Parts: sequence; structure tokens; C-alpha cells
Amino acid sequence: MKTQPSKVVAIVPAAGIGSRMQADIPKQYLPLGEQCILAHTLDVLLNHDKIDQVVVALNPEDQTFPSLAQATHPKLTTVVGGKERADSVLAGLKIADSGSWALVHDAARPCLKPSDIDKLLASRLDNPQGAILAMPVRDTMKRANTQGKIGETVCRESLWHALTPQLFPAELLASYLDKALQNGVNITDEASAMEWGGVQPALVIGRADNIKVTHPDDLALAELFLARR
Ligand code: C5P
Repeated sequence: MKTQPSKVVAIVPAAGIGSRMQADIPKQYLPLGEQCILAHTLDVLLNHDKIDQVVVALNPEDQTFPSLAQATHPKLTTVVGGKERADSVLAGLKIADSGSWALVHDAARPCLKPSDIDKLLASRLDNPQGAILAMPVRDTMKRANTQGKIGETVCRESLWHALTPQLFPAELLASYLDKALQNGVNITDEASAMEWGGVQPALVIGRADNIKVTHPDDLALAELFLARR
């Protein structure tokens, strides 16, 4: 008997308001070339042949999403997000099929390349408990003291930037996210919930142009990366 390959469900938390962008509209809807940030992000995920379903977690007040061309794509489903990013991811995980893999990706990373998704998906063979895209730290790292001056230099050896997508067995991730939230753990990415549960996710080197649009300056850079495609 042939075993069915596990389903891959992309989960996109897009329920935040992006206050650091100082814009009137949530940052995922800011224009980037011909469409908004979220539309670019969804295009990459929807067009990837190994991603079976894309679940977007939206703010309960969101009235913009239905106007996107991607909103009616047959692979796409929406859920209502929660208070924190982790709550929004958990809402998406609730509708993932049993036995599937959850590929969680920030709405605000529109420059993701399909080749990075392939690399991460391939890492499942050696890492049955999951992995994340990440980049080794290049700069010398400093920890500030309470006066905002340099308190110490932190050794950058073995320090990494955690990127997205982050890929985990959906049920395992849902279980650790849920428990970590109930225990008041500060969850800034999915891997931190897995770590809290005792899992050591693998680090897969990702591309430097997979930036998160966080500050107004990042928009021009993202536009440049997309235009180069
Ligand atoms: O604010 P930050 O850039 O860290 O948000 C990361 C991602 O999490 C964004 O895509 C944002 O829309 C999402 N988010 C969410 N639900 C929240 C807060 C943030 O889906 N309650």
C-alpha cells in the first residue's frame, strides 16, 4: 500500500496592526509595487506546488482582505486571529488536517523565494520535529546597559537571526503553543514554543533578502528585491 505524503498547510498570521510602520493602514496592506505586501506574500505560498492549503489569520476588524485578488483562490482559507501573534497562529492550526505539517510565515515577509521553501521542506527528512529558516549573525553584537550605552560585547559565534517560514508537525506545534500560552511564556516565534516544549528545531540557512517589513525604510528595500526577480 502506498503511504500518502503529509499535507503542508501554510499559516500566515496577518492580524497585527503594525504600529512600528507609523502608517494609517495595517502594514500588510501597504502598497509594494503593484499590489500590497500581503498579496505578494500570498502569491509565493499559493503558487508553490508543495503547499496544499494557505490559512490567513485576520484581524476581526479587517475589511480589506476580501478586496485582494488572492482572497478567492481555491487553496485559501481565512480564520479570525487572536490577541498575540501566537494566538493567531493557533487559530490557523485549529483547521489544519491531522498529520499535516504547518509552515508558518509572516505576512510581512513578501520577498520569500520558492527555493527557500523547498530547502525547508527538504529538511523534514532529517528533522522530524521541525526546522526554521535562519541566518548566522554577521555583525558584532552589543548588549546595552540601562543608560543605553554598551554594557558588553556578546560573542556572535553560534548566534542566528530567526526568520520565517518555520516548519513543524501541526499537532505538535498546536500543543506546545497552547501550553506555552497558558503558562504565560513569551512566544515571539513558533520555534520558541517548541523549545519551551523541549524540542530543538533545526536551523536551515535562508536567504538574506527574506526581510520582514518592519520600519518605513524597509519598503524601498523590499521593492528592490521584488523588482530584481
Ligand atoms: O508585529 P510583528 O511584525 O512582530 O508581527 C509579526 C506577524 O504577526 C505579522 O504578520 C502580524 O500581522 C502578525 N500578528 C498576528 N496577530 C497578532 C499580532 C501580530 O497575526 N495579534
